[in-house]
Amino acid sequence: MRNLTEANLTDTVVASIDTTTEPAARARFVAVATSLIRHLHAFVRESELTEEEWLAGIEFLTATGHKCDERRQEFILLSDTLGVSMLVDAINHRKPGGASETTVLGPFYLPDARDAPMWSDIAQGLAGVPTYLSGRVLDVDGAPIAGATLDVWQVDGDGLYDVQRPGASYARGKFTVGDDGRYGLRTIKPVSYSIPTDGPVGVMLRAMGRHPFRPAHVHLIVSAPGYGTVTTHLFVKGDPYLDTDAVFAVKESLIADFVEHPPGRAPDGGTCERPFCTAGYDFRLVRAPK
Ligand code: BEZ
Ligand code: FE
Repeated sequence: MRNLTEANLTDTVVASIDTTTEPAARARFVAVATSLIRHLHAFVRESELTEEEWLAGIEFLTATGHKCDERRQEFILLSDTLGVSMLVDAINHRKPGGASETTVLGPFYLPDARDAPMWSDIAQGLAGVPTYLSGRVLDVDGAPIAGATLDVWQVDGDGLYDVQRPGASYARGKFTVGDDGRYGLRTIKPVSYSIPTDGPVGVMLRAMGRHPFRPAHVHLIVSAPGYGTVTTHLFVKGDPYLDTDAVFAVKESLIADFVEHPPGRAPDGGTCERPFCTAGYDFRLVRAPK
């Protein structure tokens, strides 16, 4: 393997992966590594990358890594803003008939949200329009799924997640539905917000002439034993960013009408002293293959 050229370098690198002695379990690794090498080389060939551009790319990826810590994942943000996260989502959740659609998880999920009783307020103390979300968790035939859980999180009225404020913890909760599959919770109406732009992803968006905004949404992970988990959002109908989401994650079926009401009787059976919103949405889960 000497004097490699433009013509034979790619095949030589691919051939350097040992495919003779490996166990069958490594076949997937070999397939993915081979595809990665071929596509990386094709990108360099097609763009005829200069040495300065190559170095700028290395520096960009280095800065992306340096921006990551336990509260910040700049590589996920990069994947999100390049549409890679939604492509992975689309390939892995080809919508089986009737199931609720999935969308991007995002970098602000925390796995240990506290259990929240039905109709509790996850946004206690936050400024914003009181909002009641309710609906059912059903299977694709319309039968309620008893014991399904909804893990919910969202931004505050300033468009920030709690993890973006040192020491803060708010607007998260895990709800378990009863035998009728019904859920209900109180929060504040989510607002559209900017994804973080103080790192390399912000530099990239500005270079591309793109805005950093996401349309208002509530995040949910809906799951039940024996069913495929749905990681998704509920978007607010009428939001100005629905058609230009910075992370390409909007699906029509996930847009909900947040209906405005004057102060008065609220869906949780109590009274809301301020104008409030209600939104209803039924989630449908598909049985997981055994
Ligand atoms: C989010 O919705 O929390 C989010 C998703 C992708 C990138 C940044 C934020
Ligand atoms: Fe979000």
